[in-house]
Amino acid sequence: MADTKQSASSDVLLGLEDVSVAYHGDITILDHVNIAARKGMVTGIIGPNGAGKSTALKTLYGFLKPTTGHIRYKGESLNGKPPYTFIERGIAFVPQNRSLFGDLSVEDNLRLGCWVFRSDNQRVQRVLDVAYSQFPILADKRNDPASSLSGGQQRFLELARALALEPEVVLLDEPTAMIAPKLSREIYDFIRELPSRGITVILVDQNVRQCAAVSDYLYVLELGRNKAEGGRDMFEGDSALHSLIEEWLEYKID
Ligand SMILES: Nc1ncnc2c1ncn2[C@@H]1O[C@H](COP(=O)(O)OP(=O)(O)OP(=O)(O)O)[C@@H](O)[C@H]1O
Ligand SMILES: [Mg+2]
Repeated sequence: MADTKQSASSDVLLGLEDVSVAYHGDITILDHVNIAARKGMVTGIIGPNGAGKSTALKTLYGFLKPTTGHIRYKGESLNGKPPYTFIERGIAFVPQNRSLFGDLSVEDNLRLGCWVFRSDNQRVQRVLDVAYSQFPILADKRNDPASSLSGGQQRFLELARALALEPEVVLLDEPTAMIAPKLSREIYDFIRELPSRGITVILVDQNVRQCAAVSDYLYVLELGRNKAEGGRDMFEGDSALHSLIEEWLEYKID
């Protein structure tokens, strides 16, 4: 499948180059993983439970340090840089586990997303206006505690808070897990539109069919290693990658 791989080139915005990551010093989780997210694209990462998908995203966000290889952003190695500098560079993250402050209001959660520019009232107001126009339900509930929102509404709030930083790239870990189908569709529609707003996306998802539907390029991880990868033409229609994904993940892509 080597001929289908993305070659290293300048339009790779963020990626892992030959990256290994270990927990507790010696338990290797990622084993020489390569991921390259191209500017203006949705890059999907799929794979079975425990494949290392969340670990890959946490590494791309600076939470975990590679033991080999490089985290590469716009050509620069970010190895050893503190996580807050990843945010400053325009990398946003919506983690797999819920990350809201449930006792705080919807608006205060959004304002926390504006923390680094909190004294710039105009910018904060612009971010709130954009969030409320994108997700009108958040405007209706702006004074309610975040914990009173439904699961899907909380996901909207987490997305809006991540986008408050006006990032260049957003990392999304299982954005529709445990979310009702109607709201899931809205979330996938929203993700699909992000590149047209200049935001590159890396999407980790167990919903292989949906991930394939919104991604321009897909990586399959298994047991902490790259298993396969390919562009849209490789996983749509009758292709080797399409059949392999179905076989490995025991999941049929429509
Ligand atoms: N904090 C940790 N300490 C030790 N091992 C961990 C830790 N977090 C994850 N792991 C292990 O690392 C491996 C990869 O976990 P990871 O969460 O990246 O997988 P995943 O592909 O996101 O799985 P899922 O689909 O279940 O979310 C698993 O074997 C997991 O048990
Ligand atoms: Mg995970």
